Amino acid sequence: MKLIDVLNGEAVWPPPVWLMRQAGRYLPEYRELRGQAGDFLALCTHPELAAEVTLQPIRRYGFDAAILFSDILILPWALGQGLRFAEGEGPLLPPLQSRAELSKLSFSAAIAGTAPIMETVRRVKAGLDGQTALIGFAGGPFTVACYMLDGKGGGDFPRTRMLAYEDPALVEGTIALLTEATITYLQAQIDAGADTVMLFESWSGILPSALFRKYVIAPTKRIVAALKANNPALPIIGFPRLSGLMLAEYVVETGINAVGLDTVTDIATAIATCPPGTVFQGNLDPLLLRAGSEALTQGTHAVLNGFRGQRHIFNLGHGITPDVKPEAVAQLVDTIRAA
Ligand code: CP3
Repeated sequence: MKLIDVLNGEAVWPPPVWLMRQAGRYLPEYRELRGQAGDFLALCTHPELAAEVTLQPIRRYGFDAAILFSDILILPWALGQGLRFAEGEGPLLPPLQSRAELSKLSFSAAIAGTAPIMETVRRVKAGLDGQTALIGFAGGPFTVACYMLDGKGGGDFPRTRMLAYEDPALVEGTIALLTEATITYLQAQIDAGADTVMLFESWSGILPSALFRKYVIAPTKRIVAALKANNPALPIIGFPRLSGLMLAEYVVETGINAVGLDTVTDIATAIATCPPGTVFQGNLDPLLLRAGSEALTQGTHAVLNGFRGQRHIFNLGHGITPDVKPEAVAQLVDTIRAA
């Protein structure tokens, strides 16, 4: 598997490619199955449909990796915090009010509640050839805690950031629970067939550096150490979005095998500041998939050339948006494969 070879330190040319949100609303075949399932949560917890949705972009584009179709908020949902996806509004949760409420969330409920996800992983694994890697994932504990404490996204999580000063025990307790639950949850995905796992720390960029160390680096380090103790050969990808100058410290301290770069991170600076041999994933601007034509081709070459000679997995800097035309994704993949 090309993707696993790169994660293990080999430089592969042209680089393997997959895209964040490669299964989703920009694909007509996704919209059809999503309609059949009813809502997004129903789709995530329906192993047959979720496996089919995971495989749709693999059939269409032959990506080097499939990513489990699910969501980072399945974990708090399975722990017992309410969750719904309101059309046009994104995820909504009842914000956690106290440590008493936190203590009602149940680890054993989470294990039972995520059983359908593991069945999806097994089905996807059975549907892939030996060349396509299967990526399992979870949210980074801080990012998931943001949704649990603020109850919704769309801003910069003002309540969570204030609670870090006014009720740190609530924030720390939430992150501690998520850290342990994430280890169990990712281990179950590995046991079900995931070849690698990725931690989406989408909101790490809202923290001052001292809190970044405490709420992002320390929990990630703990998750990586626990998973590696059990699975010494398992490569792990971290995505500390918008981490800026904390990027290199994140890479060095957490022990992850590869780091996802967001769109705004300069490629040459990332290479210069991270340790030699760091594996990078990213970081094409997803807007270029909407722009298409020459801009997309040029942008793709800029990313390819920027990482030339490095260990690189081609990806976007953030997820595909629903307004992208499927032909633009085909153009992107063709450009990479012809490089
Ligand atoms: O990348 C993939 O193809 C795998 C599946 C996946 C989804 N979400 C599917 C999804 C993954 C890895 C995620 C991660 C995720 N979910 C993140 C981290 C990455 C990032 O985008 O920063 C976050 C913050 C979430 C939480 C979440 N889920 C939000 C904010 C939303 C609403 C935004 C939107 O696009 O509607 C979701 C819904 C969601 N997750 C959809 C998909 C395909 C759209 C669901 C639909 O309406 O069909």
